Amino acid sequence: MIINKQAEELNRLIQEKNPVIYNLLSKKGRAIFFPKKGILSQTAEAKGKKINATIGAAIEDDGSPMRLKSIAKNILLEPKDVFPYAPSYGKPELRKEWLKQMKSKNPSLKGITSLPVVTNALTHGLSTVAYMFVNPGDKIILTDKFWGNYRLIFENGYGAVLDTFNTFKDNGFDTAALRKKLGEGKGKKIVLLNFPNNPSGYTPTNKEAEKIIKIIKESAELGNDIIVICDDAYFGLIYENDVYCQSLFARLADIHENVLAIKVDGATKEDYVWGLRVGFLTYATKGIDKGVCQALEAKTAGAIRGNISNASHLSQSLVLNALHSKTYFAEKKEKYHLLKSRYEKVKSVLRDKKYKEFFAPLPFNSGYFMCVRLKNIDGEAVRKRLLEKYDVGVISIGNMIRIAFSAIRKELIGELFEKLCVASKECAQESK
Ligand SMILES: Cc1ncc(COP(=O)(O)O)c(C=O)c1O
Repeated sequence: MIINKQAEELNRLIQEKNPVIYNLLSKKGRAIFFPKKGILSQTAEAKGKKINATIGAAIEDDGSPMRLKSIAKNILLEPKDVFPYAPSYGKPELRKEWLKQMKSKNPSLKGITSLPVVTNALTHGLSTVAYMFVNPGDKIILTDKFWGNYRLIFENGYGAVLDTFNTFKDNGFDTAALRKKLGEGKGKKIVLLNFPNNPSGYTPTNKEAEKIIKIIKESAELGNDIIVICDDAYFGLIYENDVYCQSLFARLADIHENVLAIKVDGATKEDYVWGLRVGFLTYATKGIDKGVCQALEAKTAGAIRGNISNASHLSQSLVLNALHSKTYFAEKKEKYHLLKSRYEKVKSVLRDKKYKEFFAPLPFNSGYFMCVRLKNIDGEAVRKRLLEKYDVGVISIGNMIRIAFSAIRKELIGELFEKLCVASKECAQESK
């Protein structure tokens, strides 16, 4: 791959100050840069000029963004916050506000981090991380309970190999399995942690979180260069007391020079805006300085410029206005309590011993989901039975059933498990 001069400049800066980060960059990550003299930069320099013939957008005679009434009439925001392109890095005010709130939600996050770069929500954030850091053949270490789309993102998209370790042991997180997996071979390692987890709905307890952090630190001390990607899609939805309620990113951010922590998060689930597509990528490592942060941000913005150019300005403005709203925290609290009440209902329904014959819940304490493991019954058969006979939709994953309690009215949760039980019983009898 030919390396452009601007990419070389960024690489030199990163290599001089944080050689580990340079080593971790993929071939594409080394080659990418944000064009300094491209159309966007030339347009930025011309801002405010009497005659500005730079931008690839149309302007009304009064200087406002050209727009159709049939679109504008449905939007209360000012046209300038909707119709023009947003920067490839994302709206500056939104990036600053997201970081400010990230710090207040994660008091352990004390060191320097990059400014979050705006992505087209988390899927695109994860894919951009892969662009920057994953070469074909690289392994990605993750729990064996994982979001299925990781395959399309990392394997199909970038030729990576998902390398799983056992998620649960004795009703808790299997930290020994993580330690063992990290201990296989030396060199570059990519770890992907997703808590609250999809599909299991599990977040490590405080004790387990400390162990995970220690295991990663020890692996770094042994000389491994480690990227830890924290997929924080469901951040904040913790329903039990002894569960780690910050992002692991907060601690991993300055744990060791050999650990590059990357936070992938966004408004999608945190702010209940699945269709708006607003996410963020934030970098940190021990001893990182602003210059290296900016170099990583420039490379990330370059990758975004070359893929989607920039994320929706309308969506970014909607999220920014919400973050500034006086009622934002109260509104979020209300939704959190609604989801928590559904979680508690699931817990209480499952106390009934009759379910034990057919399925057992996997550990869960957070997020949108929980899973049950069926006892010698095929998950797909149960799913189909529920659909066809009982008017119920669930997801089957092998011999597990994933239930999105986030989407079920509390009054229907008892009925859901009752029907799951009956369908499981029928399928078990038929397979005998
Ligand atoms: C663990 C996890 N990460 C990322 C995503 C993707 O989120 P987004 O819709 O913001 O791309 C999801 C969505 O289901 C998810 O479950």
